[in-house]
Amino acid sequence: MKHDFHRLLLKYNIQSVKKPLSERLSEQDRFDNFSVNSADLLLDFSRTGMDKQSLQHLLELATEVGVEDARQRLFSGENINFTENRPALHMALRSDDVLNKLDQDTIAGVTKNRQRLLSFASAFRLGHLPGHPDQAVRHIIHIGIGGSVLGPRLLVEALGKPAKPQVHFLSSVDAHFRTGLLAQLDPHETVVIVATKSFTTGETLLHARRVLDWMERALGRDAAIQRMFAVSGNQKAVEAFGIAPQNTLFLPDWVGGRYSIWSAVSLVAATVMGEGGFEKFLRGGAEMDRHFQTAKFSENLPVLMALTGIWHRNICNYPAQAVIPYDHRLRSLPAYLQQLVMESNGKSVDSHGKQIEYQTSPVLFGEPGTDAQHSLFQMFHQGSDIVPLSFIGVIRPDHKDDEAHAGLLANMLAQATALATGTAGLGNEEALDAHRQMPGERPSEVILLDSLTPYSLGQLLALYEHKVFVESVIWDINPFDQFGVELGKVVAKTIQPALENTSVNIPENYGLSDILDYIHSKK
Ligand code: F6P
Repeated sequence: MKHDFHRLLLKYNIQSVKKPLSERLSEQDRFDNFSVNSADLLLDFSRTGMDKQSLQHLLELATEVGVEDARQRLFSGENINFTENRPALHMALRSDDVLNKLDQDTIAGVTKNRQRLLSFASAFRLGHLPGHPDQAVRHIIHIGIGGSVLGPRLLVEALGKPAKPQVHFLSSVDAHFRTGLLAQLDPHETVVIVATKSFTTGETLLHARRVLDWMERALGRDAAIQRMFAVSGNQKAVEAFGIAPQNTLFLPDWVGGRYSIWSAVSLVAATVMGEGGFEKFLRGGAEMDRHFQTAKFSENLPVLMALTGIWHRNICNYPAQAVIPYDHRLRSLPAYLQQLVMESNGKSVDSHGKQIEYQTSPVLFGEPGTDAQHSLFQMFHQGSDIVPLSFIGVIRPDHKDDEAHAGLLANMLAQATALATGTAGLGNEEALDAHRQMPGERPSEVILLDSLTPYSLGQLLALYEHKVFVESVIWDINPFDQFGVELGKVVAKTIQPALENTSVNIPENYGLSDILDYIHSKK
């Protein structure tokens, strides 16, 4: 829906409120008014500059721009990805309610694909090739990039059981890691999963070719091919590469790469998440779908998180957002969210193809705590830009070291407080010189999971997906395409021959001749 975002901001007169955060935090019922809890997850956004009235106005703005209607169109499978003329239906992979509203062929396809994914995962977990109990599997190499690796890697790190098979990831087109890895592995007990929706991604195909060669040299063609699996939407290209249909899982075109964690792309993760783990993860995502569709906006986690994002980006004009998970198992969450947030909403053209005149996606980045405190936090506390933070913590750990866990959570809450209140708010500014003072007034939100389980992680990731969607509706942009990544790929294809061979020239207007000469002079 076309709308004038600036006009709406004026209409609702939503402005950055000057009342200090430290005073806001001592308001009665601040936590009750600025936190929501659903199933295993709490969102506390009390440490932001929002007051009740500005939140109310933002909720009205969400209604006026048509979030409800857009949500309905998303879930009913309309071609909401209008630039590519297709729906965005990744929710159908996790929610039977969504799936069962689709046509019979789609339901049958999704169900069969999921059964095959689970049976492959179960065979790998038992340590053999599907249908071949005599063919050992002790290592899995997962090859993929972007959405075809970030989700599986996050799941393996967050929820993988310390059991065999061991998992290895190949993504960037850089042979250092691959050559070292292959030198350590035995092809007789390794399987390879080539995950690529398009089956055209340069990095992935190069690794896949090299790993297949390595397998073939040791095992011969047939045995090597038996150990190659694919997850893709491009069946023809998979077959042309040589991977058999019985080793291929399907990725529908209505599942975007960065939304494919719920799909067969996560085969490697389903393998190491333990029996039933992946299905619980899907159920957690489905629970968030239900919540997003049914909770009223004032209690709706994705809507409130999106409005907090809008508040920080468009009212306070903060250019960045940091995500700091206080849990080692979630160390790859910032990388995962970088793609989800920036590839989805890093756009500046509206639904009518017009240049837009307001800010959209912030730069999102992060590191796990407490490590991040020793790198990023100096700037967060005293830097000239304010960076709103998302702290993510887990209440009940999966270990027995209570002291360590209390230390971890204490650090997270201490940072949230210190950023908000600063030295003055804590009452000891007088004694400090300017270098030692913290200005405070630095907002954050806290997300707490009761414990880190497949179910709660499913909720958390679906929460972020829907938050990104709500923001896209408010900004009137398509969050489901990613044309911005294409140009660089095309240019790289022209430059590579010139790097490999000095007699190849590149177009003048690239402005790269001098640096190419320099590189050649150093080879
Ligand atoms: O980075 C661009 C992108 O198209 C992502 O959206 C996608 O997740 C990634 O490349 C990998 O694409 P594919 O799964 O087709 O190899």
